[in-house]
Parts: sequence; structure tokens; C-alpha cells
Amino acid sequence: MNVNVMTHPLIQHKVTLIRSVETGAKDFRELLEEITLLMGYEITRDFPLEDVEVQTPLVKAIGKQIAGKKVAVVPILRAGLGMVNGLLELMPMAKVGHVGLYRDPETLKPVEYYCKMPTDLAERRIIVTDPMLATGGSASAAISLLKEKGAKDIQLMCLVAAPEGVEVVNRDHPDVRIYVAALDEKLNEHGYILPGLGDAGDRIFGTK
Ligand code: URA
Repeated sequence: MNVNVMTHPLIQHKVTLIRSVETGAKDFRELLEEITLLMGYEITRDFPLEDVEVQTPLVKAIGKQIAGKKVAVVPILRAGLGMVNGLLELMPMAKVGHVGLYRDPETLKPVEYYCKMPTDLAERRIIVTDPMLATGGSASAAISLLKEKGAKDIQLMCLVAAPEGVEVVNRDHPDVRIYVAALDEKLNEHGYILPGLGDAGDRIFGTK
């Protein structure tokens, strides 16, 4: 299984808090944003740097600035929205695309109902966000859609993953790097991750 589990103590501590059934929507949203920011810090480690001249109040000096590709954050609707702000805090210039998929009740296959992307996807590093990587069906379909639209450099960022979902994305998209805060045990018969945290969309938006 090819997946990066982010083991930073602050991330792990906050994952425990966010799992708790006692955590309400406001705290859930705040924790998700904080975890996303911390994960974002880790997954941007390989950004290339270039030298740049900077005039300090005293002298000219050589500093570093981020070079290379710009970023697009692509939340999978709707729970993926909860991971956008944490990344925008770190990368305020990133563009945001949105992809919405529903599961066809007959074929059980994901069907696109909304897709609005920046025009220059091929030139960007794409960070797809979805808190729960369960069966992997929607993540894999969203990534296929992005590739059809030209995306070449894709990272998938999830809060909690089931091994089943990681395997599906690894199989369908071996080029996509997966980052998670927790790799859980398994899916239950209803497609929920165990131990998981329940329905992430409902917990973010206070629906049920
Ligand atoms: N989606 C969720 O929100 N939670 C799960 O456990 C599985 C899929």
C-alpha cells in the first residue's frame, strides 16, 4: 500500500479530538482546518526554491522564494470543502476548483454533477481534498476527471483512510501521492470507516 501517514504529534492529537462523538460542528470544522494546515506544511516540503535578491534596510541580500508550479486545491464536494481554508492559509494564491460526484443508485458508479476548474490545470500542482477515503470510488473518479482535463501532478489529501480506499486509488492512479492523518482498520458493511469519525460532511455542516 502506497500512502503517507502524517505522524506529527500535533496532527495525531487533533485527530483524536476530531474523532470524538462529543466534538460539535464548530470544533470539528476548526480542528479539520488546523489538521489540514499542519498536513499542508508537510506535503509542501518538496516545493523547489530559487534565490532572489532582497533589499533589507541595511544591505542587499540573497533570499529564497518558492519556484516552480503554482497550486490548485480541488475539494470533492461536499466534505472536501472543510479542508480548503487550511490550505489557503498556507497558500493564499492557490486557485480552487470544485468537483461534485454522486453515486448512481443502479450502477453504484460515481457520476459527475459539478466540475469547475482553473483553466491551467496542466501547469499546476493539484491537491485534491476529501476527509474520508472510504471505498476510494469518488476519489478515483475525481482524479480521472482531473486527468481528462489535463492535470498531471496530483496529490490526494485525506483526514482518515480505509485500506480499501487506498488500494483502489493506488491501483487506478499509481502516480498519485496519497497523504492521510490516519490509516484506519477497515470499512463496515455500510461503507463507513472503522473506527473513523462518522459522516464527515454531516459533522462539518451540522446536518444529519
Ligand atoms: N464518508 C464519511 O463521511 N465517513 C465514512 O466513514 C465513510 C465515508
